[in-house]
Amino acid sequence: MDTPHIPVLLDEVLDVFKDIDEGYIVDCTLGYGGHSEALLKNNPNIKIIAIDQDKEAIEFSKKRLEPFKDRVIFEKDRFSNVIKKYQDFDIRGVLADIGVSSLQLDKEDRGFGFNSNVLDMRMNQENPLSAKDVVNSYDRVKLEEILREYGEIREYKKVADIIVKNRPFNSARELSQTIEKHFKRGKIHSATLVFQAIRIEVNDELGELIGLLEGIKNSSLKRCKVAIITFHSLEDRIVKRTFKEWSKSCICPPEVYRCECGNNNAVGKIVTKKPITPTKKEIKQNPRSRSSKMRVFEIER
Ligand SMILES: C[S@@+](CC[C@H](N)C(=O)[O-])C[C@H]1O[C@@H](n2cnc3c(N)ncnc32)[C@H](O)[C@@H]1O
Repeated sequence: MDTPHIPVLLDEVLDVFKDIDEGYIVDCTLGYGGHSEALLKNNPNIKIIAIDQDKEAIEFSKKRLEPFKDRVIFEKDRFSNVIKKYQDFDIRGVLADIGVSSLQLDKEDRGFGFNSNVLDMRMNQENPLSAKDVVNSYDRVKLEEILREYGEIREYKKVADIIVKNRPFNSARELSQTIEKHFKRGKIHSATLVFQAIRIEVNDELGELIGLLEGIKNSSLKRCKVAIITFHSLEDRIVKRTFKEWSKSCICPPEVYRCECGNNNAVGKIVTKKPITPTKKEIKQNPRSRSSKMRVFEIER
C-alpha cells in the first residue's frame, strides 16, 4: 500500500518496545499507521490502542491495518483524553510521535504547507479554531505572544506588525509570501517559525503534550514504557523536564532541611539519558526526520 508518511526512528521505536509480548501498546499518534503496523508485526502478541484526532488518518489506517483488525482498537480523539479512559487495560507501552504528518503537510486543502490555497492547519477538522481565525482576528498583543512563545521568533513584534498591517489573509500562500518579502531566507523558509507558532496555537499542541504526560503520571499504569518523539525544542524541553521530575525520589522543596516526602516518589526511570536521533542514512532517505528526537521513560511502581 502506498503510504503518504514515512515513520521516523522506526527501528529505534521497535527496539524500545521489543520485549513487550503481552498487553497493549497505545499509539497516541496513529497517523498513517507506519509505527503501529511495524509494532503489530514485530510484537505478535500485543494489541494496539490507536488514537488520532484526524479523521482522514483514522480512515486510511483502518484500511492499512485491516489484516490486524482483531488486535487494534481505533479511537478518534485527542491523546490527552486517552490514558484515563484506558488505564484499566493492561498497557505496557505508550508511543507518541508528535506533530504533523506528511499528508497533512502536503495536502493542499489542509492549509499546513506554505503554498496551500487555504489557511486552516487544524489536525481535527471539527476544531472550531482555524489558522484563519488566529491570523485574521487575534489582536496584536496575542499574536506577539504566540509568535514569541511558540515560534521563539526574535523579531516577533515585527512579524505581528506585518500580519496586522497586511491582513486579512485568505491562504497560507498569501501569508508565507508576505512574510518572505520582509525577511531574508536562511537555511529554512522564513515563514517556518511563524507557521509553527500558528499551528501550535490552533491545535493546542503544547497543552496536549502536557495533558498526555499528566494523564500518564496520574494513571494507575504500573509497568509501562513511554516513548515520545518530538520535532522542536519547545516540546523536547517539556518531555525532558517531565521525565526528570518523574525520576525524582525526593520531591521536597530545595529549602527544607531534612527530607519530609518519604523519598519514594519516583514513578520509574529515564531510559534515554540523551535523546535518540535519526541516523545520517535515515535523514538522507527522509529529510523530514532530521529534527526528530525520542526520549524514553520506564514506569515502574
Ligand atoms: C507525525 S504523525 C504520526 C505518524 C505515524 N506515527 C505514522 O507512522 O504514520 C502525527 C499524527 O498525530 C496526530 N496528532 C497530533 N496531535 C494529536 C493529538 N493531540 N491527539 C490526537 N492525535 C494527534 C496528527 O493528526 C497526525 O496524524
